[in-house]
Amino acid sequence: MKSILRLAVNGKPREDAVAENALLIDYLRDVLGLTGTKQGCDGGECGACTVLVDGKPRLACSTLAHSVVGREIETIEGLSRAGNLSRLQRAFHEHLGSQCGFCTPGMIMAAEALLRSNPHPGRDQIKAALAGNLCRCTGYVKIIESVEAASRAVEQAA
Ligand code: FES
Ligand code: FES
Repeated sequence: MKSILRLAVNGKPREDAVAENALLIDYLRDVLGLTGTKQGCDGGECGACTVLVDGKPRLACSTLAHSVVGREIETIEGLSRAGNLSRLQRAFHEHLGSQCGFCTPGMIMAAEALLRSNPHPGRDQIKAALAGNLCRCTGYVKIIESVEAASRAVEQAA
């Protein structure tokens, strides 16, 4: 059975008829077409589906869409502004933090939450923030370096 879901996605208010048992990832991908959020394991283990709910990382594959009624959801599509990459998107591109790219949206959303709460994290804090996000390609070093580069970009902009 469907019921009306009201929430905000990437700053825009939404009102959609959504199945009461629909997962947030399916609502984002299939109803809104926001396919940047990836489905890796579908079991809460890989972090590829990480989005922000009221600024906090959340696994969209393990969240019922109706459980986030009235909340602000942010996906990777919401980070760029007027076609410009965000500091993290740019850093992952420039510092080779992305190879196949499948884990990248989840990594960036988890890192985005970290940098908002701690603009200058240490390496251990970056590792802790990304501990729930798996990558098969990069060996993680380039990912951590990308987050460090983005945090320096924050510093330069401040
Ligand atoms: S798809 Fe959600 S944690 Fe893997
Ligand atoms: S870049 Fe391929 S899984 Fe991380």
